Amino acid sequence: VRTPSGKLLLFGATGDLSQRMLLPSLYGLDADGLLPPDLAIVATARSGHDDEGFRAFAEAALRKHMPADRCTEDGLKTFLARLRYVPVDASKESDFQALADVVGSTEKGLSIFLSTAPSLFEATIDGLASAGLAGDGVRIGLEKPLGYDMASSREINDAVAAVFPEERIFRIDHYLGKETVQNLLALRFANSLFEPLWKAGGIDHVQITVSETVGLEGRVGFYDGAGAIRDMVQNHMLQLVALVAMEAPAQFDSTSIRDEKVKVLRSLRRIDRTNADKMIVIGQYAAGAVAGGAVPGYADELGKPSDTETFVAIKANIDNWRWKGVPFYLRTGKRLPTRQSEIFIQFKPVPHSIFEARGAVLQPNKLVIRLQPDENVRLLLMSKVPGLDRDGIKLREVPLDIAMPNAFADSHRRIAYERLLLDLVEGDQTLFVRRDEVEAQWEWVDAIRDGWSVNAMKPRPYTAGTWGPSAAIALTERDGVTWHD
Ligand code: BG6
Repeated sequence: VRTPSGKLLLFGATGDLSQRMLLPSLYGLDADGLLPPDLAIVATARSGHDDEGFRAFAEAALRKHMPADRCTEDGLKTFLARLRYVPVDASKESDFQALADVVGSTEKGLSIFLSTAPSLFEATIDGLASAGLAGDGVRIGLEKPLGYDMASSREINDAVAAVFPEERIFRIDHYLGKETVQNLLALRFANSLFEPLWKAGGIDHVQITVSETVGLEGRVGFYDGAGAIRDMVQNHMLQLVALVAMEAPAQFDSTSIRDEKVKVLRSLRRIDRTNADKMIVIGQYAAGAVAGGAVPGYADELGKPSDTETFVAIKANIDNWRWKGVPFYLRTGKRLPTRQSEIFIQFKPVPHSIFEARGAVLQPNKLVIRLQPDENVRLLLMSKVPGLDRDGIKLREVPLDIAMPNAFADSHRRIAYERLLLDLVEGDQTLFVRRDEVEAQWEWVDAIRDGWSVNAMKPRPYTAGTWGPSAAIALTERDGVTWHD
């Protein structure tokens, strides 16, 4: 049951995520009449704005980051009027008291979103609790990174759990807010077509690629301490693996869905010091060109040499009945040739080709689920090339397309955070990550990182604007598989 809260409290409100995603998402929801009419939004950060100062700051961010046609004068006026601002230094108890005074009664529910450095989480949670802002109707949303390994993640989760029960904790993975990611559930469980084939007998392998053209983007301190596996694989990519591989949940509710996801995460075959060098390739971009423009190498951008990986490719396996023997190839990286996130599923070839003797070569069927930049689902099927076949039968792979913008012309594309912020405000945990999922994710990733450090693996250089080190190509080629570009 959705129970909208009466207030939303946004920590880290002047940060980059807030400017690019959170404020535009809240504005978008408001403009479409989706926020509870009386929802007050209290923004906080360290900067010393007052209400008016923050409204001007928010307006500038919205004008910069929203498409001009979405940003109307009336819409801005209504939205900005919802905003209040209280400066908070997480180490000062008195600041939380001042915040509580502005927030006032939490009787009608309060949703809190922490988009601050995780090093501030504990102090913030304590501050909230001591100011009486953690009681029964209060939910807390946590933005990543939730730690940098299992131990630090447990520490944060323990600190949060000391104040909030799990059913009031909303851990964000913004990939779960993406429309096509949710559409995976519809594709799999609202169609009878795929499920009988969706297993080792029907699927040859799965590839998941999340490639980005951007480099460090000024996130020097954060990214160099994280690297691609912690920044992208531990969370977003493993969530995609879980959604592709999970069993059908008995019901569409947060417990049933998350129960099935965590089973997949726990079935991931361990990659560790015994096999990391065979199952993983790590890379770091060197100077090159992306989208026609020259770009510096990672170490130059950073200003010092570093062993942080900006690319990782992994051959993963899921040890359960459904997926025995089906490799899941994962790769992600910065400064790759295109920005593209997709799930590529290659089905098994037909058991016997009647066309071979007539000169036709068959391709196995493929399902390509594109998350971005465009959202679409494409099924590649073999089809006969029209003609009289005097020189043998010609068959060609043709796509059956479901391009989202065309199929649903009346809906506009939403920022992933719109969905997640609305679900937080309404109290629906389905698209948030449960603690056991996060810990299963860290367990797998920690063993890999330990494996590469014990094996003294260093990132291999790749030229910016290419698909990573050549070893990443060899990782699949030795299984007779080619990455889908
Ligand atoms: C974030 C990572 O979680 O996801 C970034 O920290 C990355 O490094 C971003 O760029 C990618 O998100 P999206 O939605 O643009 O694919």
